[in-house]
Amino acid sequence: MAAMALSATSVAVFFFLAVLSGGDAAVVEHTFVVSQVKMNRACRGDTLVTVVNGQLPGPAIEVTEGDSVVVHLVNKSPYGLTIHWHGVKQRLNCWADGVDMVTQCPIQPGRNFTYRFNVAGQEGTLWWHAHVASFRATVHGALIIRPRSGVTSYPFPEPHKEIPIFIGEWWEVDLVKLDTTLGDGVDYNPVNTTINGKLGDLYNCSGALEDNFIIEVEQGKTYLLRIVNAALFSEYYLKIAGHRFTVVAADANYVKPYTTDIIAIAPGESVDAIVLADAPPGKYYMVALGNQQPPPDIQIPPLSSRVLVKYNYNPSKEQALTLGASVMAPEMPDQHNTIASFYFHGNMTGSFAHLPVPVHVDEHLFISLALGVICRGGHVPSPSLPCSKLNGSILAATMNNISFEFPSNVSLLEAHYRGNMSNAGMLHKLPDKPPIVYNFTDRAMISEGSEEAALESTLIATTVRRFRFNTTVEIVFQSTTVLQSDSNPMHLHGHDFFVLAQGLGNYNAERDVGRYNLVDPPVRNTVLVPSSGWAAIRFVTDNPGVWFLHCHYGFHMSIGMAVVFEVDNGQTLNTTLAPPPADLPICEQHDSSVAYE
Ligand code: C2O
Repeated sequence: MAAMALSATSVAVFFFLAVLSGGDAAVVEHTFVVSQVKMNRACRGDTLVTVVNGQLPGPAIEVTEGDSVVVHLVNKSPYGLTIHWHGVKQRLNCWADGVDMVTQCPIQPGRNFTYRFNVAGQEGTLWWHAHVASFRATVHGALIIRPRSGVTSYPFPEPHKEIPIFIGEWWEVDLVKLDTTLGDGVDYNPVNTTINGKLGDLYNCSGALEDNFIIEVEQGKTYLLRIVNAALFSEYYLKIAGHRFTVVAADANYVKPYTTDIIAIAPGESVDAIVLADAPPGKYYMVALGNQQPPPDIQIPPLSSRVLVKYNYNPSKEQALTLGASVMAPEMPDQHNTIASFYFHGNMTGSFAHLPVPVHVDEHLFISLALGVICRGGHVPSPSLPCSKLNGSILAATMNNISFEFPSNVSLLEAHYRGNMSNAGMLHKLPDKPPIVYNFTDRAMISEGSEEAALESTLIATTVRRFRFNTTVEIVFQSTTVLQSDSNPMHLHGHDFFVLAQGLGNYNAERDVGRYNLVDPPVRNTVLVPSSGWAAIRFVTDNPGVWFLHCHYGFHMSIGMAVVFEVDNGQTLNTTLAPPPADLPICEQHDSSVAYE
């Protein structure tokens, strides 16, 4: 047990009764107090940060498969908040999914709410984060699920130690302001990258190696890194000088072990990788480097941070002389190289433990992911009178040309539960395909001006797509080059999916269906749709409720790259959404006299 202890500084209570008592499911209980604290980073001691239990990252929740999790959220922050358990399937329990205005109204300042859910049938690294505005930048932490039959039943040799690695960003702007101004084209950037909350010595104030998160290793032992990209903005590359990774899982699903010297991880994704300490004893850097598209895409300052990997040994005098204080640094790819990410994601295959891929597809969706513009003041543009000639425009992000807007007076799940979705605001059905077909990946569209008129048809609405229970859905996501050529890490709540294929350029069914991996595709909750490319996924709607599907880039999500999947109940109690918890937060303007039937 001691060897399994995580290095996270969690002070929260956790029970490990399940393993100790030989397999009974336990109740793991935490209290999360959200408050604003002053933190000392980037040479300033006064940055006000919203965090859980005073920690960044917040406390790690460690459980055994099948356990129940109870988290009492005490909101001492001045903001309404929710917590989402990223990747937890929440079967029949959509009420605990924690999405602002989708599954619940926010927990108001000074109020409490208790999240209750179980982690049956899932193993690996997940995480939790705020799901209101951009608060997930600092309100986040690990959710680690170990096998019921103990760590010796990992499908890889038992590691000597497990170490969570949270890639994040340090922000000095107000996260509410960040969120509300993104559509105005106001340019805010993070100060820089953090790893486990530390900026590291690349961004040094003291110049000391102690500014880094430090991993101490012993030669010959293996370490399981549980890596999460909790950043709002960027995909990251991760490398350790002189070492290789063996990737064993992603998004809490085992993959066939894959050995590589570089990991690529997008916001929302998690990757479990084993590192064998097999280099000559010494000091090595693990570097995280954000990538971005080259110009004409708008450039942000390069983002990176690093961890110190330090061998525990007593150097002889001679060794001490030759090694000195030197730390080996890995050779990183260029920050504009995004192809290494394409290959990393494409090389992953699932373990055979998963159910077979459904062969018959009931519904096919083709979804374009783009930026667009909406005229201010609700004007409807026309080619002869574009927004620019009216009052100007707001930048939006879209799925099939619709930009998602949250309902304002009732959560969609409450509306769904009462059979009253039409009351939830401006609902609009997500169409099967984009309204216009264009050359989605034409790089000429990156620069403003080219096709502006065509883009101004963007609609803003609460986009919902309804499915019968047990529908097999295939989605092809197409990244576009409208105003920018970002990749898009698309995350679906309440379901995992098979990632069948990815490609560069425009998707072409005739050519690309033949490339689907129907044998051993990876199972994920987040698919990185490559820059100027596409990805195909398939899943079964086996979980009734309303489930958010969105890009995990903060920028894209805040300006509307999202949709809600409404899944009907099945025929039996066992396929029916549970009633809401009694203490579910009520919306402020919401009519609380309306009782649930
Ligand atoms: Cu990790 Cu809807 O998010």
